[in-house]
Amino acid sequence: MSEAVRIVEVGPRDGLQNEKTPVSVETRIAFVEALVAAGCRTVEVGSFVSPKAVPQMAGSDAVLRAVDHHPGREFHVLVPNEKGYDAAMAAGARVIAVFASASEGFSRANINCTIAESLERFRPVLARARADGVKVRGYVSCVLGCPFDGEVAPAAVTRVARALWDQGCYEVSLGDTIGVGTPVKARRLLRAVAAEVPMASLAMHFHDTYGQALANLYAGLEEGARVIDSAAGGLGGCPYAPGATGNVATEDVVYMLDGLGEPTGIDLPRLLAATNTISAAIGRAPVSRVAAALNAKARAAR
Ligand code: HMG
Ligand code: MG
Repeated sequence: MSEAVRIVEVGPRDGLQNEKTPVSVETRIAFVEALVAAGCRTVEVGSFVSPKAVPQMAGSDAVLRAVDHHPGREFHVLVPNEKGYDAAMAAGARVIAVFASASEGFSRANINCTIAESLERFRPVLARARADGVKVRGYVSCVLGCPFDGEVAPAAVTRVARALWDQGCYEVSLGDTIGVGTPVKARRLLRAVAAEVPMASLAMHFHDTYGQALANLYAGLEEGARVIDSAAGGLGGCPYAPGATGNVATEDVVYMLDGLGEPTGIDLPRLLAATNTISAAIGRAPVSRVAAALNAKARAAR
């Protein structure tokens, strides 16, 4: 496989946005710092959404301000509208992510508008970002299925991905929000979207609800995709996607890429330390198989 794989660590945002008990700002800052210490270069640290919609992400401004001092690292935040953009700018954000859906049902549930309305809402955000020199990433959710509408056609995903690309997003992340995809479907999807948006600018954001995420990523890597979103420990889920569990675990991705001889720059033991710290804070063992295996090995060696 040619060209380095880039990992976008989304644990502090996607991983923690669905926790029953919100995780404190201090703990979120410590988590991000531990991820950076493990070698994560790009970390999504929070969102500037309505605190009524997602109270878990309140204080994202404080998280961003506290961590954004590492040269060569990028810290991303979600922004759904101009109000969120104002707040992100006030906190010093340099990379934001807007998020749309490939299905109408999820668009309505998640951001309370149609797909077309969401794209119109992003237009002034993208225009202001361009003027401010702020990079914008675009998400498309429900790319391999929707909890409300069921099957989602690749053409529907491609339309939204293309619209985000045309508006100026530097990268479009394809979200299997409810983790229902399988490798052949993931491969077909990437092929279809790459006809409209360059493969080098596509990211794979696969939740692992049905245990298929690693296989789907491998299929995507074979197609030429090179950007992977993952969450330390396999944390997370979306509050508006019933039944969805966490993203593919960063440990599992790094272990697989290490095995493929693909450098990630992430140190597995230090990543595990970051995961164990956040797991202790939320009172749950990591769902990552690699984290569980390494923790069991460490216990056996004691
Ligand atoms: P709305 O109710 O249609 O918005 O929500 P509104 O403009 O009518 O405003 C309603 C209230 O929210 C007002 O406050 C606004 O000021 C406030 P009130 O007058 O009632 O006191 N408000 C805001 N407050 C703070 N920051 C803002 C903001 N905007 C409005 N930016 C809205 C629309 C989009 C705001 C809402 O639905 C929302 O915040 N949704 C966020 C949902 C979310 O964060 N979901 C999880 C992230 S997406 C995800 O996880 C998927 C992903 O991982 C990819 C994948 O897996 O597929 C990215
Ligand atoms: Mg997600």
